Amino acid sequence: MNLFHRIIWRPFGFSRILLKVEHWISTESKPLIPPTQKLRTPTLLLVGQRKHFSTMPEVETYQRDPELFSPPSSVRGMTELDRTAFTKTVIIPVLKVRKEIVNQLMRSLKRAALQRPGIKRVIEDPEDEDGRLIMLDPYKMFSSDSFEKAELNLLKQLDVNPQITKYNLELTYENFKSEEVLKAVLPEGQDVTSGFSRIGHIAHLNLRDHQLPFKHLIGQVTIDKNPGITSAVNKINNIDNTYRNFQMEVLSGEENMMTKVRENNYNYEFDFSKVYWNPRLSTEHSRITELLRPGDVLFDVFAGVGPFVIPAAKKNCTVFANDLNPESHKWLVHNCKLNKVDQKVKVYNLDGKDFLQGPVREELVRQLEPLSKERKHSVHVVMNLPAKAVEFLGAFKSLLDGPLCRSEHLPIVHCYSFSKDARPAEDVQQQAGAVLGVSLETCSSVHLVRNVAPNKEMLCITFQIPASVLYKNQARNRENHEEPPLKRQKTEKAFPEEKIQVASDI
Ligand SMILES: C[S@@+](CC[C@H](N)C(=O)[O-])C[C@H]1O[C@@H](n2cnc3c(N)ncnc32)[C@H](O)[C@@H]1O
Repeated sequence: MNLFHRIIWRPFGFSRILLKVEHWISTESKPLIPPTQKLRTPTLLLVGQRKHFSTMPEVETYQRDPELFSPPSSVRGMTELDRTAFTKTVIIPVLKVRKEIVNQLMRSLKRAALQRPGIKRVIEDPEDEDGRLIMLDPYKMFSSDSFEKAELNLLKQLDVNPQITKYNLELTYENFKSEEVLKAVLPEGQDVTSGFSRIGHIAHLNLRDHQLPFKHLIGQVTIDKNPGITSAVNKINNIDNTYRNFQMEVLSGEENMMTKVRENNYNYEFDFSKVYWNPRLSTEHSRITELLRPGDVLFDVFAGVGPFVIPAAKKNCTVFANDLNPESHKWLVHNCKLNKVDQKVKVYNLDGKDFLQGPVREELVRQLEPLSKERKHSVHVVMNLPAKAVEFLGAFKSLLDGPLCRSEHLPIVHCYSFSKDARPAEDVQQQAGAVLGVSLETCSSVHLVRNVAPNKEMLCITFQIPASVLYKNQARNRENHEEPPLKRQKTEKAFPEEKIQVASDI
């Protein structure tokens, strides 16, 4: 076998890297990927004549090397990221073409072209300033026979020789995908998936135990491979503190947790280390917002930094928003100003029960004027604190006194809860009904928000608060006359038939 090497220094992808072309004159069987070491010490070699560029007729046997685009095996076990250790050389098939037909050809060769992060698919032909080399996918393109009929026809039409040449291409850290880097580093056979939630510039990871020895490296790779991410944090406990914010460790990048996010077209700013924010709730925030109509009144008992509040106020609802966390309260006020709805929102920093029994009660007295026929708008109460909100439903018991409002004006509650039950919808109806002392089975709808963990669902139960619960005199009557526990309120109009609905996008 006669082997020619050539060295070309050219910008290639992200870096100026060494590129070498090998020309095989013989068709003798040869591995597609020769030992890397051989290529590490480049020598300036003869430039073969054009006619000596060989095809790759025999490479079928090597075509499926699964490690072709894997980083070198020497990176296994690395805990501190050394980007230079990822450099390796692979042989790539290329097609030599005239530069003026490149655009026309590329449109038809998409299938056959190489797709790698940071690798240009067309490079200059070092031998011919009017020529270009098209990088081909080594898993699909082995010889001229690998072209499809239509591709071959086009090549013929454009007078291109379909013979494939080999190129030694140096891959660097930039050319590997995140999963490829992590798969090469973490112990073999272990799950490397490190999905994350994005909160502005922050990647919020939830690493498993076996990934912890590599946590700083995983954080840095996440930053490197995701444009706009400049900080990677890992959750270090489950959210069980009062304010539902995560305890987190900065794995890599900026310590600054002050961030800006955009959700459903509105802007929010906050310190992610001090407040609750979950990008997975965006669909739920918009689902509730869609139920509201201009003029409606919304009480948000556990408002966080405002993802229900801002869209509702933008929809011209009157909003009363509350959060116990002083930091959430601060950012809630800020976000109302930021989105120019501060005139439509009253913000409180109270415990949920005090909010319900204070400002909510006062406003309900005003809103639920008895027998007022003119009132067209509805009153909604959102309670998104799934671990505890159901307990707060007790605050509605006998909250109002005096004459009853019209039944269609009774406030509509959207209360969130978790369930580990095999029948989560029924479970939540039962939980809420038990606190209120009524059955909600036929007068509520339950929406499955998302699967939080294996066998743990987050749900939202929606119902109108029965007058027998909300009004003191009704409760008294019920006790005195031993009436049935609940004159059931129908919610069919606002919440048609759904018993349980799966949010497929979260
Ligand atoms: C799960 S977060 C929901 C925040 C926001 N509604 C959202 O959808 O992103 C619950 C919020 O309730 C607040 N909170 C926790 N306990 C509270 C209480 N007893 N009274 C009022 N707010 C409380 C927390 O500070 C947190 O912001």
